[in-house]
Amino acid sequence: MSAGMDDGQPRHVAFIMDGNGRWAEARGLPRALGHRAGAETVRRVTSFARRRGIPFLTLYAFSTENWSRPREEVDALMELLSSFLAAELPALLENGVRLKILGDRTGLSEGLRQRLAAGEERTVGLTGLTLSLAINYGGRDECLRAARLAAERLAALGRGMESLDQEFFAACLDTAGMPDPDLIIRTAGEMRLSNFLIWQAAYAELFFTRRTWPDFSDADFEEAILEYGKRARKFGGA
Ligand code: FPP
Repeated sequence: MSAGMDDGQPRHVAFIMDGNGRWAEARGLPRALGHRAGAETVRRVTSFARRRGIPFLTLYAFSTENWSRPREEVDALMELLSSFLAAELPALLENGVRLKILGDRTGLSEGLRQRLAAGEERTVGLTGLTLSLAINYGGRDECLRAARLAAERLAALGRGMESLDQEFFAACLDTAGMPDPDLIIRTAGEMRLSNFLIWQAAYAELFFTRRTWPDFSDADFEEAILEYGKRARKFGGA
């Protein structure tokens, strides 16, 4: 969708928050404490993005594949997401942050779904920063859900599949109405997208750092933005 801005400032930054487990294990702590430290970084990064004038921030919090982790860790993550939403809602409202949820909510507990819906409803219309949390999210799963939704919408409009173009499809994705990510940052050394925003990432700039997510600092974020500003974005053109 969006070609980003050409002033070197990304309009939409998305993060693959990796390395919580390694951060904890290196300190002899349970992995759940790594996720808790990661939630602190979520607060910090959100505040930085807002102050830095980045309008869209998207965070990969729980993938459709993360269910295969030990039950204890999954439970701890779900609990952390739920308590984070409850604790942070006042700060989101105060700072004009709009919350959006990406992913398939049908797989989540009723309690968490209610908190997610309340967070979205109460922050609707806020324009300071749009914070999207991807929860029970997978890019392929999103594309399949979008394909089904597109078929339904086309049928309701009495139109055939030949009417399906990129714009119509993008409007059926969880990210409908948002610009594509300009910059995707992955922490903790791995260099892959892991099923994150696979449609939307078509022309994203990628930035990888060895820093674990709990250790990711404002200075690291600034470094990634400066590096982004040096990239020549061509979107397939010459
Ligand atoms: C990857 O680290 C991280 C996750 C699977 C979860 C990300 C969740 C948070 C940062 C916590 C809370 C989020 C919010 C929005 C409050 P890993 O466990 O795969 O680390 P490892 O690769 O070192 O094992």
